[in-house]
Amino acid sequence: MCGIIGYTGNRDCVQIIQSGLGRLAYRGYDSAGIAVCSNGDIDLRRSHGKLENLIARLTREPLRGHTGIGHTRWATHGRPSESNAHPHRYGKFAIVHNGIIENFLELRQELIARGHEFSSETDTEIVAHLISEYYTPDTGFAGAVRAALRRVRGSYAIVAICADFPDEIVAARLQSPLLIALGDGENFAASDIAAVLAHSRRIIFLEDGDIAHIKADTVEIQDITGQPVQRPVKTVQWDISAAEKQGYPHYMLKEIFEQPQKITDTFRGRILEDEGQINLDEKTANLEFEKCSRIQIVACGTSYHAGLLGKYIIEKLARIPVDVDVASEYRYRNPIITPQDGFIAISQSGETADTYACLKIARERGSKILSICNVMDSTIPRASDATFYTRADPEIGVASTKAFTTQLASLMLLAIHFARRRQTITAGDARQLLNALRSVPHHMETILETSDSVRSVAQKLLRASSFLYLGRNVHYPIALEGALKLKEISYIHAEAYPSGEMKHGPIALIDEKLPVVVIAPKNATYEKTLSNLQEVKARGGRIISIVSEGDDMLPRVSEHAFVIPDCEEIVQPFLSVLYLQLLAYHIADLLGNDVDQPRNLAKSVTVE
Ligand code: AGP
Repeated sequence: MCGIIGYTGNRDCVQIIQSGLGRLAYRGYDSAGIAVCSNGDIDLRRSHGKLENLIARLTREPLRGHTGIGHTRWATHGRPSESNAHPHRYGKFAIVHNGIIENFLELRQELIARGHEFSSETDTEIVAHLISEYYTPDTGFAGAVRAALRRVRGSYAIVAICADFPDEIVAARLQSPLLIALGDGENFAASDIAAVLAHSRRIIFLEDGDIAHIKADTVEIQDITGQPVQRPVKTVQWDISAAEKQGYPHYMLKEIFEQPQKITDTFRGRILEDEGQINLDEKTANLEFEKCSRIQIVACGTSYHAGLLGKYIIEKLARIPVDVDVASEYRYRNPIITPQDGFIAISQSGETADTYACLKIARERGSKILSICNVMDSTIPRASDATFYTRADPEIGVASTKAFTTQLASLMLLAIHFARRRQTITAGDARQLLNALRSVPHHMETILETSDSVRSVAQKLLRASSFLYLGRNVHYPIALEGALKLKEISYIHAEAYPSGEMKHGPIALIDEKLPVVVIAPKNATYEKTLSNLQEVKARGGRIISIVSEGDDMLPRVSEHAFVIPDCEEIVQPFLSVLYLQLLAYHIADLLGNDVDQPRNLAKSVTVE
């Protein structure tokens, strides 16, 4: 997630903005910049890479002003570079932006037709040009911003400055957090409390559609139609550490709770529901994986589990054979891969050495390469023919959560795309699947509300020395992921098996001390799993189940049953893994472990 801070008041703004950006650095970024109103004009400095580069630039080429904006960028549209860094300036305006402008291509074409030229690859720059287009003495500054934003579809947190109004900033919010901090003779706008906590605890949280006209002593908020709206001023008690976690005790819990929004962002602009089509970027679509004789997926850890689930979904919908391998095994077995095969590398960091090594083998053997990644322009995307970005924003917790579910979301969109191209599903089938996927964020929100009850179940499982996770079909990769989450952060041994495999050995483990976590929502294999569980119950096993709403059989044999809403099968993995993430988190937290930085683990494994 990018970081935003804006200031207008009686002090010089550059140092304030610079230190505010430093407070936002924890969120991850790849470039930064500051713009100020200065001598009837706009002046800005931007730099690629770390804040130190911007600070060095400002030392060499100082800025001064008492109204300004600053930004740390996490690339989503356009690679990390100085030219793509924010603020973006056009004419009398400069803006910073968080979010995704879905219709930026059509707006860009429209503006080019009007003679506009662009200096970046970003969607944000479009908005600066649009504001300038709508700006007249009658519209004024805020009116021009409002008129421009009426043309925008997507999500935004925007803060703008205008050379004609050197004592004002305008801030606007739609589906991307933005707040105002009230000072004494000065006011701030920011994406995150951490950026302004040093100056004020009096916060106005903007709501979707709000546009705030901010001066040193006044704040006027209107909706997109120009009607005034009132927002309460809240006093925030957080310290800076709590502010960086937005009130959550750990980044991991914050990221678990962010998943509904991040999946919404993964889908944003990529679902053409009416046509029952997926709107892929040109490079990805042109790979034509739907024509491949086979797809080879390679990944590590959690990303490997996402790949396993991708196999089930792609084979089920598109009827393309899919092989999934752990990268560290694949790279050393002289794998068979040909130019007729599609190769998919899944990597949150885009830097995993084993996965990258496999990509190079596939490249040498002529395969087309698609990567699914969370970090724009990292090593693996740079080596790929195309990359499908998950848009989860930086994942700080070492144990992957939102990166995993946005990988699942990405794989499902790709599977539907391949299936539509191969006509193995109809437009109606696709619409039904897409409609189901659209419901995922809402269902996840419902489950997140039960986090406290998951914690009370975790309390009863703390002392177990080992866990067994069971799942069938698409829930087998989820069982693997649940076991990994528990191991990673609680340091309790856990292993996962396909439910049907239990009778081939693992059943010997069953006794009254062993919690058996079984994922068994209503689906085609439910009855089979039910009989597996009778075997566990008969041997005194402790069953913790994940069941569908209305199931009155499984809860009877369960010590505890986590309920997911009755929903399409394609939705179930998102909901079952959410319970397993929460269970692992609460067990580890109750054990007093360092949940965000578990022992022995690194966020990105760049060595073999
Ligand atoms: C995830 O919880 C783990 N930290 C780890 O398994 C991770 O998924 C694996 O190292 C792969 O990382 P990548 O997705 O960045 O390639």
